Amino acid sequence: MKSPRLRFPLIALASAAVMLVGWQALAESNRVTFPTLEKLVHYTTVRRGNVTEHIMTTPEAIEAVKKGQPVPSGTHFVLVDYREGEVFRYFVMEKGDGWGGDYEAARKTGDSQFQWFKPDRIINMSENTARCQSCHQSQSGSEYLYTGYRIPRFNGTPIE
Ligand code: HEC
Repeated sequence: MKSPRLRFPLIALASAAVMLVGWQALAESNRVTFPTLEKLVHYTTVRRGNVTEHIMTTPEAIEAVKKGQPVPSGTHFVLVDYREGEVFRYFVMEKGDGWGGDYEAARKTGDSQFQWFKPDRIINMSENTARCQSCHQSQSGSEYLYTGYRIPRFNGTPIE
């Protein structure tokens, strides 16, 4: 029979591992920062039921996409989700040099990382941003953007 002295640390280790895995599945901060919204351009609106989404990015990114060039490093894309006229949440994507290196290949979305901010601009620590990445991975042909294809048509009035 094993000594109880040995068994206890094993149980402690196992539960620490479970806690770690649980933590990884939920809370997560990463390199994404909350941008200065005033510097961004609202290029398209998506409406779905009671949700109105204003999607915006930098003037430089808009120029780059129009020229068929890659979005510059440091670019933010923001989806402001409004419900009943109030900000419900901010979805932010930011691209940075080498940021893809933070993730294993299966999760990577180029050099872009994702974050969910609450209306007070605090990170929603109960979201796992791997979910954002797994859905946006399907847009690998357009810099992981769903609405990037609308940018070339943008001429100052948000495209609906
Ligand atoms: C199930 C798929 C799915 C998931 C999960 C998802 N998105 Fe998206 N995302 C979309 C779609 C589709 C759009 C285009 C707008 C629309 O149709 O509502 C979009 C648009 C965006 C945009 C605007 C730029 C673009 O791609 O057009 C940002 C920023 C964004 N999402 C961030 C996030 C963040 C942050 C998360 C996780 C907290 C997330 N998304 C999770 C599907 C998804």
